[in-house]
Amino acid sequence: MKIDACFSPHLYPVYKADDTVVVIIDILRATSAICTAFEHGVEKIIPVATVEEAHEYKHKKYLVGAERNGLPVEGFDFGNSPFNYMGDHVKGKTIVLTTTNGTQAIEAAKDAYKVVIGSFLNIDALCSWLIKEDKNILLLCSGWKNKFNLEDAVFAGAVTDEISNRSDKFNLGDACLALKYLYQMAKENPNKFLTHSSHKERLSALNLKEDVRYCLTPNQTKVIPIYRDGALVKM
Ligand code: MLT
Repeated sequence: MKIDACFSPHLYPVYKADDTVVVIIDILRATSAICTAFEHGVEKIIPVATVEEAHEYKHKKYLVGAERNGLPVEGFDFGNSPFNYMGDHVKGKTIVLTTTNGTQAIEAAKDAYKVVIGSFLNIDALCSWLIKEDKNILLLCSGWKNKFNLEDAVFAGAVTDEISNRSDKFNLGDACLALKYLYQMAKENPNKFLTHSSHKERLSALNLKEDVRYCLTPNQTKVIPIYRDGALVKM
């Protein structure tokens, strides 16, 4: 079995393979917000790629989260802060979500054998499940507008490190080997390691340092969201 990593939704067709579990990664903040939402009782999340699609759902009276360039899009119920997805207003609800990169990665991989959502918030549960699942794994980093970003790469390295420490069943592709070394440099203080990373700087400029801190906090939930029939649900 193999673990590989892809650094952008744009490159996904190059890595696409049958019988592979794809882990969608958008640490700041889409996949962290999604894990948070399920931990706080959301029933279903319908990811959509465009703001236009999100508008159609809004007209049908769905609760809709929409973010572009780190900011909430006007006219919707939430942006993409994990703190928007905590509390009674989300419990039992179906939420539609569109974000700059995370929902684009889900869209790119939606026909894969299995698509699950990864973040530091659910990392232990995710790694245990991936080891048990016994399939090839592709870590799909959402990046930023189809370019590499550091926080998704650090998380992909954390998953690689954890799985290769706990199981010898998986061969690491070159990307994962590099990411494992990267994570070893970052793990003592991921927040500090990411200090000059572009999206952390972007979010800090928007006064969203608390979002960053939360998104880098491991194991806040055991929930693993999985994509089924056009929506994310709790596994
Ligand atoms: C995204 O999907 O691009 C991100 O999660 C952006 C963000 O929430 O800041």
